[in-house]
Amino acid sequence: MARPIPVDIFDCVVFGATGDLTLRKLLPALYYRFRDGQIPDASRIIGIARSALSDIDFRARASAALEQHVAPSDLDQNLVGRFLTCLSYVALDVTAADADWPSLERKLDPARVRIFYLATSPELYGPVCKALGSAGLNTGRSRVVLEKPIGHDLQSAREIISEVAAVFTEAQTFRIDHFLGKETVQNLMALRFANTIFERVWTTDVIDHVQITVSETVGLEGRAGYYDRAGALRDMVQNHLLQLLCLIAMEPPVSLEADRVRDEKLKVLRALRPIAPHEVTALTVRGQYAQGAIDGRPVPGYQADLGRDTPSGTETFVALKAEVMTWRWANVPFYLRTGKRLPRKVSEIVIQFRAQPFSIFPAEAADWQPNRLVIRLQPEEGMRLDMMTKDPGSGGLHLSCTGLDIRFDTAFGTRFPDAYERLLMDTVRGDATLFMRHDEVEAAWHWVEPILEAWAARPEAPRPYPAGSWGPTASIALIERDGRSWHEEMG
Ligand SMILES: NC(=O)c1ccc[n+]([C@@H]2O[C@H](COP(=O)([O-])OP(=O)(O)OC[C@H]3O[C@@H](n4cnc5c(N)ncnc54)[C@H](OP(=O)(O)O)[C@@H]3O)[C@@H](O)[C@H]2O)c1
Repeated sequence: MARPIPVDIFDCVVFGATGDLTLRKLLPALYYRFRDGQIPDASRIIGIARSALSDIDFRARASAALEQHVAPSDLDQNLVGRFLTCLSYVALDVTAADADWPSLERKLDPARVRIFYLATSPELYGPVCKALGSAGLNTGRSRVVLEKPIGHDLQSAREIISEVAAVFTEAQTFRIDHFLGKETVQNLMALRFANTIFERVWTTDVIDHVQITVSETVGLEGRAGYYDRAGALRDMVQNHLLQLLCLIAMEPPVSLEADRVRDEKLKVLRALRPIAPHEVTALTVRGQYAQGAIDGRPVPGYQADLGRDTPSGTETFVALKAEVMTWRWANVPFYLRTGKRLPRKVSEIVIQFRAQPFSIFPAEAADWQPNRLVIRLQPEEGMRLDMMTKDPGSGGLHLSCTGLDIRFDTAFGTRFPDAYERLLMDTVRGDATLFMRHDEVEAAWHWVEPILEAWAARPEAPRPYPAGSWGPTASIALIERDGRSWHEEMG
């Protein structure tokens, strides 16, 4: 694999430096890029949070985080030592009127690319940006990175967008959807637009339907407060699943320039048929995990995980049927599902092709399966094209379904960088292709919001499903009503 091209020396200010995201994802991602020589030694990573820590304390936390979240074989103590010297810390309450912004300013070089990474709760995005503006810290080479979720609904998203826009231009604003940084998600663009064989069949004439599944085995993992306010529709569908849908459904962009790609994704979001309140019961399923077992290990239900007596109406599972109202996608439903405490951790897109219109083979010659393209985003990243082939041998004509399978790890024999590695370096380079533009965020909320409102207006709670199952049985009914079924390997 080609050695990565070093980026310019930069200053990266990470707000929320003591939080889960920084310790589990951002610092390991920055370490890997440093290890591979992409981040110059003179770059600086400045952590910000309220906790009173010295530079030495912060480096000790960072070192412990690397021990925990970087593969031991990738930890070179000499490199770790050099990486840690790039780190420093400023204790600062971003909401305090007397916050010590000058201490931060003294650590920054006005000539460098400057990244403000907001790994804090979204309520702080507006106040942080305002303070950065007032303190004169937004130089021409500054960029601000916003974590998901951008808001809780359309209104709050618009408020955050306008608060940030009062200080940073759209070109300076990088809204992360880390799914877009995954190698296999980027490969969707290569699959569709670098291979004529797929683009020609990417249409309602040939495709029967599309399934997008993002399943997790974990429960709340210490994020109960956030998750119980959000739920699966806000946490996963509004951003990750709709972004995947966009990459599958969009028209070829005229170039790979960020805005040309985002223009096409926006058209898809705007073409999603709104789900009317009276259709919500038929077209969506919400569930909440109950006690069950994963990998033979008993796990508690959502209520017990929350540790609260009052029942929660938050959904930990969503399945829904979406339609993209364009010539290309007329009569091609997109079935989306995501949930916590499901049997396996999988992110997968299934393109189900239509059955052949006529067969010259006798019915008993095969267990007929229409062609299917399975794109695995995780684990075992790769793709498989299921095709009917003749069974070898002279015992008569019998056909079966066989997969043309590419596993990217064996095909390329290399480690797959984490999505944050790519996205952080794109931010330094100023390439916004894999980040969401404000109008995409708004369009996604616009489509999701009527579902949230219809759910809120109904008295019934989310349907329970045992932890370790594939969600409520209503999810199976949602797709089987249309004479289809969830991809069999998924259960
Ligand atoms: N964790 C994930 O896997 C994940 C995944 C995707 C997106 N996100 C998003 O990333 C963001 C951060 O998530 P997280 O899980 O890392 O949250 P977290 O663990 O709760 O961390 C929040 C951080 O913000 C700091 N903070 C809170 N109030 C502050 C203030 N007034 N001034 C300065 N610092 C303050 C906290 O440190 P002090 O208490 O020391 O101030 C802490 O470092 C959220 O928007 C979340 O939705 C997280």
